[in-house]
Amino acid sequence: MADLQVVSTRAQLAAARAKLAGTVGLVPTMGALHRGHRALIEAAKAGCDSVLVSIFVNPMQFDQAADLDRYPRPIEADLALCEELGVEVVWKPSVETMYPQGPARVWVTAGALADQLEGPHRPGHFDGVLTVVTKLLSAVRPDRAYFGEKDYQQLTLVRQLVIDLALEAGIELVPTVREPDGLALSSRNVFLSSVERQRALALIGALRAGRAAAEIAADAAGVAQAAWAALDRSLGAGEGVDVEYLELRDPALGPPPPYGPARLLIAARIGRTRLIDNIGLELLAAKGAAGPASDPADTAAEPRR
Ligand code: PAF
Repeated sequence: MADLQVVSTRAQLAAARAKLAGTVGLVPTMGALHRGHRALIEAAKAGCDSVLVSIFVNPMQFDQAADLDRYPRPIEADLALCEELGVEVVWKPSVETMYPQGPARVWVTAGALADQLEGPHRPGHFDGVLTVVTKLLSAVRPDRAYFGEKDYQQLTLVRQLVIDLALEAGIELVPTVREPDGLALSSRNVFLSSVERQRALALIGALRAGRAAAEIAADAAGVAQAAWAALDRSLGAGEGVDVEYLELRDPALGPPPPYGPARLLIAARIGRTRLIDNIGLELLAAKGAAGPASDPADTAAEPRR
């Protein structure tokens, strides 16, 4: 196995990229690598001849300076994981390398797909993500780039980005990695106290309740109702989890379909930590006769806030 090469500048990146053999997989990260990133890197190793991991905490996607400041940066542990997994190149540019003239004046903007879910809660976030992803893709020129299902709206926007800007890379989805109790892995989990971590299980509890309702032929409104009911039950103590949204969409993040594949998404603040999660499900109502509420008008109902 070739040694891991760690590069910083654009010139070093270009030289390292030129030496990579065969198909190249890019795993874009902000570091603080956990088992979710491990799954991304393993998928890239399995799907490509060479793997390049970028580690860059992108200031342009943080809407709050405090959040940027406290973002974890355990670079030695990150490099050790990349080495263990047989990554060929890590690119860890400085802010000056990525934005040599200061904050970008021309951005890639996310458009209407970002006017929902995460968008209103994190103004400018997706413009920052799409701008940096465009820069990463154009600098690395990978055959494929790997994104986690947990950041589902990001994944959807990146897929749209490569279509709309006719970028060459294939975008690969890697399933969410969870703790045994269901908590989705996130770099932000380290900020949870043990009480908050317990409360965080309310998120996956709500998503699974929504999926279970879909499986017994609830429609969109029934799924939302079941998910909210599960949240109310697990938050019986009443405090500690501030839900920002819990919403059902079609797989492309359009309005919920009357039946078929759908995606249930949630975001909540637990203390000072903001977590997101989502789950895929299959709406069975209205497909056959079995649904308890198969009036299409019902399926348009928005979940309550
Ligand atoms: O998902 C992330 O870690 C970031 O949003 C990404 C894609 C690396 C862009 O900074």
